[in-house]
Order: sequence, then structure tokens, then C-alpha cells
Amino acid sequence: MTTKYVNAVISEANNDGSLPVLEGALGPSAVDIQSLYSRHGLLAFDPGFRSTASCKSAITFVDGDKGILLYRGYPIEELAEHSDFIEVAYLLMNGELPTVLQRAQLDLAIGSHNLLHEQVLSFYRGFRRDAHPMAVMVGVVGALSAFYHDVMNIRDANDRYTAAIRLIAKMPMLAAASYTYSIGRPMRYPNNKVDYPSNFLQMMFGSPVQEYVVDPVLARALDVIFTLHADHEQNASTSTVRLAASSGANPFACIAAGIASLWGPAHGGANEAVLKMLMEIDSVENIAKAIARAKDKNDSFRLMGFGHRIYKNFDPRSRVIQTQAKKVLAHLGKDDPLLDIAMRLEEIALKDEYFIERKLYPNVDFYSGILLRAMGFPMNMFTAVFAVARTAGWVSHWLELQGESHGIDRPRQLYVGPTLRHYSKNK
Ligand code: ACO
Repeated sequence: MTTKYVNAVISEANNDGSLPVLEGALGPSAVDIQSLYSRHGLLAFDPGFRSTASCKSAITFVDGDKGILLYRGYPIEELAEHSDFIEVAYLLMNGELPTVLQRAQLDLAIGSHNLLHEQVLSFYRGFRRDAHPMAVMVGVVGALSAFYHDVMNIRDANDRYTAAIRLIAKMPMLAAASYTYSIGRPMRYPNNKVDYPSNFLQMMFGSPVQEYVVDPVLARALDVIFTLHADHEQNASTSTVRLAASSGANPFACIAAGIASLWGPAHGGANEAVLKMLMEIDSVENIAKAIARAKDKNDSFRLMGFGHRIYKNFDPRSRVIQTQAKKVLAHLGKDDPLLDIAMRLEEIALKDEYFIERKLYPNVDFYSGILLRAMGFPMNMFTAVFAVARTAGWVSHWLELQGESHGIDRPRQLYVGPTLRHYSKNK
């Protein structure tokens, strides 16, 4: 592969306006290269999308250098403190906070769509009991497209909104059922007398033979986790949802694609990976060894929960989660040695030249596993909890995309395979 430098094209873009520079409301400007190929016969090469804005979006803004995260302009810290997940979901989908009436209507709509079709429950029985909950969720959420396909007109705004509400409403039961199935307990139905996070807790941990009393401190902590994970602009799973949706695919199938992408340890699977790592480190004395391994280029070990493609500063969500983790542990009178290891690990890493140079800070998942574990969630459910929350963001982006007209998303490639050759059978 040869490398020719194309400064001329870039400066032409800035000088003669043939490739305009677009200004957003916040953040860096973008060179509009849509006509680069038709005018110059060139493609833009950006694997990993480090310098590519794949779309315009008015939902979420991240300033990774300053450690700022805004949902529709509101700082995440303010929403985590004063709002709740359902209000935030409304904000993400609609652009504004709901009035009292709009909030009541949304609660009502969620309450009328939170049940699963009984036939869906039979799908669970096809999975092995030890299947990972994310594997089950990819399958069952995708299967929902078979229940809501012909009845839905993707061109109709009301139908689209109903599909979005259905997804937010059903996700807690879908996730909780993947857990109760794995431990052989009967699945529980939602209870419309309690709020969204309490409902998830009672479906996860309740038993049919005993009344489940929701602990308000745990319900509030779960609500904060949901709020913090609700959206994060064009991350891998959201981009996957948008890419799938650009072909006009069924929304349940698009969200199943997002769940698949979220599962990986470099993305939403990191919360589970962090806990495994902390358990492996086991004691404060072993931290130095772990840091040395993370810095060793011949070792594939990384500090899970550290670093982020966009944040080159503190992830504002990590501070809120750490506070919640301490609050819940104090409330439950528990003392988790993994929290001490995590805090000491953070302290040492943040003073280490390797992490300073590369601007590697704790991300949202560094403390979320400790918090979820304190609340009683098994490790393999951590990413499923994330998926419940991120559904609000995925459907908001899906709704936003339906209003756009750029057609199917279809990246190009730099072909590096064999040039033309003719067929002859191998001897
Ligand atoms: N531990 C050790 N070194 C790291 C880490 C880490 N966690 N993260 C990045 N680095 C190093 C890389 O080795 C690389 O070093 P080099 O320049 O000497 O080669 C440099 O920092 C840049 O790393 P990249 O991999 O290029 O950064 P990228 O933006 O591609 O990756 C990612 C971001 C995937 C989050 C990465 O930091 C990582 O793997 N972190 C651990 C997994 C994790 O916590 N993921 C959750 C992300 S948040 C979320 O999705 C909810």
C-alpha cells in the first residue's frame, strides 16, 4: 500500500468552499466530505471513526477533554441528582422535559406496554440455563420483531413512538426473565403500583411465595444507574442501532443489534470485566503488579474501566457512581474490599506517567460493578442492566434517524486484497 499525501485537497476544502466546514452547536467543526469522491475521486480513510462525524444529532453532547456530558443540553450530574430515568427517557426522545401531564401519560403508556406476550416467555425455555443473559437478550429482543412487524408502519410517527415506548417498557421484564430463568425461578410480571426501577428490582429478586418490599435506597441507586447509562451519543452500540435502522429494519431487530454490540468487554461488557479484574487482583498489595501488566505491551491485560475513546479527562458519570456505591454500601452496612482495591488502584494509576501521558481516567464502568454487586445483582447481569438503561438512548437515536433523509449507511473501504487474476484450478 502506498501513501500519498493529500494536503492539497484539505486546504482546498477550507479555501474554495467546495468541501464546506459545518459548525455544530458545541464541539469541533466538521469538514463535509460527502462530495469528496464525486469531485476528487478520493475516499476518506478513518477506521475506528476517530475523526468522523457519522451523522448530525441533537440528543447528547460529550466534551471528552473537559469531562462534560449533556443530555439535550442538561448536565448529567444535574439530571442524576434531580431527575429520574423515565423523565430522562422522555427528554432524550422528545427534546424537552415533560410537563406533569406528559409525564403521567408516559407512565401510563409504559404501564400498558410492560408485559411480554406469553408466547415470548416460551422462547426462554429454548436456552440453556447457564446461557449468558446478554445472549438471551440478543435472541429474545430480536424475536420481538416477529410480534410487532406487520402491525407497525415505520413511516407513521405515532407507530414509531409506540415502538419506542414498547421497547423501554418491556426491557426490564426481558432482562429480569433472563436472570430468573437462569436460576430456575418463575418469571415475575411487572407491578404497575411501583415505579420503573422498583419494578425491575421486584422482577429480579422477588419470589412468588413472598411479598417483595422494595428498598427505596436501592431503587434510587438503580434509577441513577439507569440515568447515567441512558445515552452517550454515537458509541459503538448506538452506531450499530443507527446502521441497522438506516436500511429500514424493524426497530426490535435494530435494538437486538445494539445489545450484541454493547456486550463486548471494550464497551458495556466492561462493568463485568472490571469486577473480574478486581477479584483477580484480590488485595491492595497486588495493585502494582496489575499496573505493570497493564503497561506491558507484550501483555494483553488492560485496566478494565479505565480509558475511553472520547473522555481524555474524568468521565463525569464515574464520580456519581462512586458516590452511589459508597451510599448503598453504608446503607446496607456492607464493607466491600473490592471498593478499597478500586479506589487505591485509581489513586495509583492517576499518578502513573503511563496513564497521565495517555489521559486514561476511570470511566462509568469502573465503579458500577461494585454498586450493582452491593445491590445483589449477579455479575453476568451487569451488562443487561446497562442494556435496559441504554434502550432509552437507542430508541431516541432510532426516532431521530427516521426524520433524516441521508439514506442507507454504507461505508466504503480501502481495498488491499489481490488485484484481478483469472481462475485456474489448484493442483
Ligand atoms: N489499560 C491500559 N492501557 C490502555 C487502556 C487501559 N484500560 N486503555 C487504553 N490504553 C492505552 C493503549 O494501549 C494505547 O497505548 P499506546 O498509545 O501506547 O499504544 C493508548 O492507551 C490508547 O488506547 P486505544 O486503544 O487507542 O484507545 P481507544 O480509544 O481505541 O480505546 C477503550 C478506548 C476501548 C475504552 C480502551 O481505553 C479500553 O480498552 N479500556 C478498557 C475497557 C473499558 O473500560 N471499556 C469501557 C468503555 S466505557 C463504555 O463503553 C461504557
